[in-house]
Amino acid sequence: MQIVKLVSRLLASHYRDQPQLAQSQAYAPSNIALSKYWGKRDTKLNLPITGSLSISLAKHGTQTQLKPIDDANHRIYLNHKLVEPTTPFAHKVVTWLKWVLPAGLVLEVKTYNSVPTAAGLASSASGFAALVQATNRLMGWELPDKKLSILARLGSGSACRSLWHGFVEWYVGECDDGNDSFAEPLPYVWSQLRLGLLQISTENKTVSSRQGMLHTVQTSTLYKKWPDQTTTDLRQIRSAIVAQDFEALGATAERNAMTMHATMMAAWPPLVYWKPESVATMHQVWDLRRQGIPVYLTMDAGPNIKLLFLKQDQVVLQDIFNQLQVVAPFQP
Ligand code: DP6
Repeated sequence: MQIVKLVSRLLASHYRDQPQLAQSQAYAPSNIALSKYWGKRDTKLNLPITGSLSISLAKHGTQTQLKPIDDANHRIYLNHKLVEPTTPFAHKVVTWLKWVLPAGLVLEVKTYNSVPTAAGLASSASGFAALVQATNRLMGWELPDKKLSILARLGSGSACRSLWHGFVEWYVGECDDGNDSFAEPLPYVWSQLRLGLLQISTENKTVSSRQGMLHTVQTSTLYKKWPDQTTTDLRQIRSAIVAQDFEALGATAERNAMTMHATMMAAWPPLVYWKPESVATMHQVWDLRRQGIPVYLTMDAGPNIKLLFLKQDQVVLQDIFNQLQVVAPFQP
C-alpha cells in the first residue's frame, strides 16, 4: 500500500486517466556503477543504504514501445518474443504497470535490449528507465526528471540512474517515503574515457542482484564495513571525474567493485558470481597494469568484466582482448 500511496502522490497534479497518444516509445541506456549500490534500507521502495555513481553505456540499452490494447492482460514482448506472464521478468513489469496505470488500461509492451538480459550487464536498469519514459509520454504526464527517476527506482534501484547519458549520481536520501532518493546527471564530459565489455558468460544467473544484496546484508560479516567504504569511494570518484584523473577513477572504481564482491564472499552460504574465466581476466588486467598500461576493471552481480581505459590505449587493448566491445560513453 505504501507504494500505491507514494505513486499517487508523485503523479498527483500530472495524473490523466486516459492515454494521450495511440502509442509511445523511449530509449534508455544501460549503466555501470563506478561506486556501487549494494544493500537496501527499504526493500519495497528500493531505498539504498548508500549513494552510488554510474556511467551510462550510450547505445547499449533498451528501446520500449507501448500501445493500449483491448485485452484483459498486459502483453509483454522481449526481443520479439512473447514473454510468459509467470516469468519473473513479466511479473516485475506487470507489477510496476499496476502501480502507475489507471485501472482498466491494458498495454502491449515491446522491449528490445541491446545488452544480454541478466548477464550482469544491467538490462533491468535500462528496461525500467525506458518503460517509465515511454509511459510518461503515452499518458502525457510530463513528469519532472526527479519523479521519473523515483518511478524508475521503484521498478529496479539502478534504473533511477539510467534516464541519462554520461555520469549519473543517485542520492541516498533520508526520508522514509524515498522522496529524496533519486538520481541526477553530473555536468562533466570526459571524451577520452572508454569502457570495454568483456562477456565471460551469457547464462542466466541463478541469484539475482536483488536476492544477492539482501542475502549479503543479512548474512555477511564484512557488510558492516561497506557503507563507509563505498561512501568514501563515491566522493573520490566524483573528485576524480572533476579533475579528469583517470588513475584515481580507475583505481577507486576497481577497489569498490572488489570490496562489494568481498562482502558477498563473506555471506553464508557464500555468494560468488565469478567464473574461472573472470579470475583469469582479472589477472590479465593486473599484468597489463604492471606493464604500464592504465586499465582497470569493474564487475556487477555476474561473471562479466567491464574495463575502464582511455582512448589512447584502445587499439592495444582490442588486440589483447579480441572479444572486447568498446563503448565511448560521451560520443553520440
Ligand atoms: C551490482 O538495481 O538490479 O549492479 O534494486 O533489487 O532491482 P534492485 O537491484 P539492481 O541492483 C544493481 C546492483 C549492481 C550495482 C549497481 O548497479 O549499482
